[in-house]
Amino acid sequence: MTDQVLIFDTTLRDGEQSPGATMNQHEKLQLARQLERLGVDIIEAGFPASSGGDKEAVSRIASEIKQSRVVGLARSLAEDIETSWSAVEKAAKPGIHTFIATSDIHLKHKLRMSREEVIDRAGKAVRLARSLSDWVEFSCEDATRSDRDFLCKVVETAIREGAGTINIPDTVGYSYPSEIYDLIKFIKVSISETENIIISTHCHDDLGLAVANSLAAVEAGARQVECTINGIGERAGNASLEEIVMALRTRKDHFKLTTGIVTDQIFHTSRLVTAITGMPVQPNKAIVGANAFSHESGIHQDGVIKERSTYEIMDPKTVGVSKSSLVLGKHSGRHAFRERMQALGYSLAEEEVNLTFKRFKELADRKKTIYDEDLEAIVAEEVLRTTETYKLLSVTIMAGSDVVPTATVRMTVEGEECHGAELGNGPVDATYNAILKLTGRRPKLLRFAISGITGGTDALGEASIRLEEDGNVAVGKGAHEDILVASAKAMVNALNRLAYMSRRPQAANRL
Ligand code: KIV
Ligand code: ZN
Repeated sequence: MTDQVLIFDTTLRDGEQSPGATMNQHEKLQLARQLERLGVDIIEAGFPASSGGDKEAVSRIASEIKQSRVVGLARSLAEDIETSWSAVEKAAKPGIHTFIATSDIHLKHKLRMSREEVIDRAGKAVRLARSLSDWVEFSCEDATRSDRDFLCKVVETAIREGAGTINIPDTVGYSYPSEIYDLIKFIKVSISETENIIISTHCHDDLGLAVANSLAAVEAGARQVECTINGIGERAGNASLEEIVMALRTRKDHFKLTTGIVTDQIFHTSRLVTAITGMPVQPNKAIVGANAFSHESGIHQDGVIKERSTYEIMDPKTVGVSKSSLVLGKHSGRHAFRERMQALGYSLAEEEVNLTFKRFKELADRKKTIYDEDLEAIVAEEVLRTTETYKLLSVTIMAGSDVVPTATVRMTVEGEECHGAELGNGPVDATYNAILKLTGRRPKLLRFAISGITGGTDALGEASIRLEEDGNVAVGKGAHEDILVASAKAMVNALNRLAYMSRRPQAANRL
């Protein structure tokens, strides 16, 4: 058995299923480029049959990504499989991932199919997928709650029809480590053909066990792990890529296994996912949380100063965490700016450099010290969040102790310029009233928060909001030296996401 664990990243598919994490095509492409830099073996770019937009995003990723394999998800249906293949076929390394549920609960209540029908459907799906693609993965959805003998029959059928990877998902995060270990061992012992294929695992975090379960599956012989950056995903999320990779690396003495991940790209990838989805990482999150490498207690600080290994099991540099440092100032030129952007992992096109450099100069005129975090905020706004229905042009606010807060907003809606003024209970309320009036949308505000991106009173302020409209949830972010402008930007960003979601047919065929 190989000693390399393949990393199958599903941030763009299962991750995107997190409420509020919808990404547009441009954002997906940016993230796919970074996943390739990170060295993931397989990128699950989307579920092409779920919408035309998703199919197009997968196709664009497939035609650009060269190193990582690009796969599309498909239910065990001919139409899904053909759509998935047509989206990925131009990839340097394409693949189809098809699945069907195998637990009795799913058979009875969701599929309304007998076990025989499921075996038949799985076999036909893999046969069709193999007639199109050399690389086919088959997943038994809800495997950990399936009858083991039946599960083995489905797996045998999929292998016989040519699946090279068999995925055993813990779809609802129900398993515990010794149980999934036992299940993988059982499958390997019961089906001798598993010798020649890759067993994969795909764990959800409903009981907070996704990473532990994935590692237990690896110990039992799984050689592919399906995971997402920051652990985002359906409900409580998926197993977190960074935690699995760093556990395998830090405890190589125990696992004796490697991955192809370029670990010093981890932190930047995590930040990019946050910038794109607007979903923050909790400060105490392992590996990528703000506190993951900070020591508060005096005894710990003293220990780390004397010898880092007393309280640190990983060097922060191995995951790409560097202390915020002064990187550029107002006299920095375009060349230094571009180099710093490259060091942060952004390879910007000429036009993108123009846009971001202009914003950087404007900021540097007002703010003495520019940190990496400031540059990331600029890229997030100028490069990542494009293809917009709404664009904020300006906002002017009158507020104070003796006036009724009034906001005047100028913006474009579908390319048409418009402006309007509204009153509100406070300046943010007035701004939001004006924006909503101009866009004609009526979302419910679920959350609003402001924070400083770096320290100091001249720091960029970051506003993040969460909106709900017709069952769609969207997160928005905006950064500016003026927190009211940041708030307006966050609102417009979230409205753009809602507009994108409402255009996307909410397929009964989304998972
Ligand atoms: O959680 C799950 O079972 C899935 C499958 C489609 C692999 O996401
Ligand atoms: Zn899943």
